Amino acid sequence: MALDPTIIVLFGGAGDLVWRKLIPSLFDLQLAGRMPRRFAILAVDRLPFRDDDLHARFLGGVKQFARNQEVRNTDWDAFARRVTYLQGDFKDPATYAKLEARCAQMDAAWKVKAARIFHLATPPAMVRVIPKRLADAGLNRNRARDRIVVEKPLGHDLDSAREMNRTLRQSFDESQIFRIDHYLGKETVQNILAFRFANPLFEPIWNRRYVDCVTITVAEEVGVGHRGNYYERAGALRDMAQNHLMQLLCLVAMEPMVSFDADEIRNKKVDVLHALRPIAPTGIEQFAVRGQYGRGKLHGKSVRAYRQEDDVSPHSTTETFAALKLFVDNWRWQGVPFYLRTGKRLPRQLSEVIIQFRTVPHRSFPAESSRDWHPSRLVLSIQPEEGIVMSFQAKYPGPKMLLRPVEMRFTYQEGFAIPTPDAYETLLWDVMNNDATLFMRADQIEAAWQVLMPVLEAWADSTPRGFPNYAAGTWGPKAADDLLARAGHAWRAGA
Ligand code: BG6
Repeated sequence: MALDPTIIVLFGGAGDLVWRKLIPSLFDLQLAGRMPRRFAILAVDRLPFRDDDLHARFLGGVKQFARNQEVRNTDWDAFARRVTYLQGDFKDPATYAKLEARCAQMDAAWKVKAARIFHLATPPAMVRVIPKRLADAGLNRNRARDRIVVEKPLGHDLDSAREMNRTLRQSFDESQIFRIDHYLGKETVQNILAFRFANPLFEPIWNRRYVDCVTITVAEEVGVGHRGNYYERAGALRDMAQNHLMQLLCLVAMEPMVSFDADEIRNKKVDVLHALRPIAPTGIEQFAVRGQYGRGKLHGKSVRAYRQEDDVSPHSTTETFAALKLFVDNWRWQGVPFYLRTGKRLPRQLSEVIIQFRTVPHRSFPAESSRDWHPSRLVLSIQPEEGIVMSFQAKYPGPKMLLRPVEMRFTYQEGFAIPTPDAYETLLWDVMNNDATLFMRADQIEAAWQVLMPVLEAWADSTPRGFPNYAAGTWGPKAADDLLARAGHAWRAGA
């Protein structure tokens, strides 16, 4: 499908996100032949930059971060020709006058009114400034063609998220606003919908009658790197649970959509958030566990404690690990616990959703067969493995009726011999295509904050006991295991 001529305006054009993610993804899209025939990229920032210097900087980013790191000169030149710089202060109305003039120039040259995408890759406070300035300059007026893209953090708590949504909507219609959660751009995350609703096999058992519990893990090996300043104020719950984990939960628990319309899917997802049982402020520890990594070892190498990281207070009480036990109060899921966890400096990078099925109602096999009894499980591997694994019991060869768990496995690599696009490629293309399905609507953001507020408030009001409470390179604090063990559940062994 041919995309309309498009002007992509990158606020924060000299910053890290543009260099590391946006430009490399746009370049990959260009190589894949998926960019509009006519497009221009305008990087806006405060620093002085000549176009040539900007191109050199971007090329460095592409060579490091694009999927296609072997860059042919002809390809790069064809791309760089479309990229220009506009120096200006984000607060200064003059910047927007210049921007308006540049857009008008482009329209005149192309003899068409181009779509305009304003992507805010800026510090979060700018979301209070840029949309308003764009509106003052009339750059918001065309509802079909003018779009704004916002990155996380999407608020710091419920109040600030509401305020952010209000500010955005004073200048843009909800249909023009694209809030990014990059997890939704991942192929394996999108595949949850395909798997559930394109196959008749699993949907009939996808409910409380057959499912014992669901665990969702987003584990990271990395620490906070150079993001100590940001992370100190955020912590694991805000950084990962409010957005990525909640979105995974929605996709696993939602009701079937009636059509593939963006709002239909988002309605079904927000229903899940609304059905989440509120966590009572008393007894938070029954439902939420926090942790912070101390010194430890990863792949045989010593790594420092969170409190020793750059820009982190030596007395920090910020959590680098969070686990939650949630219930979805509706007919489908009543009584089924959903366990969510995320953490930094865990033994390996691993994102997965596990559907654990109930055991059979009656074990009719000889007693010795039961010794190694394992519940049937479906593992949706998000990353780094990308695929689906079904584990179930089978007869172990030999004279006796002994049972062992075995696996049926689908991997993307074997199933589809083509490279998987980066999440940002998918999302940027969707913005150009004006498809908001994979973006967060205002009500989703607020509903997700609402669920977490009791935990955030309780944690802010009390000093965590025993921080650091897990060594780097381990699977988090013991309390996270206890959270499941109390109901006879466990995280997956070794994960
Ligand atoms: C970001 C968080 O949203 O997601 C980071 O701010 C985290 O702290 C990152 O490292 C993880 O993303 P991915 O795609 O590497 O799993």
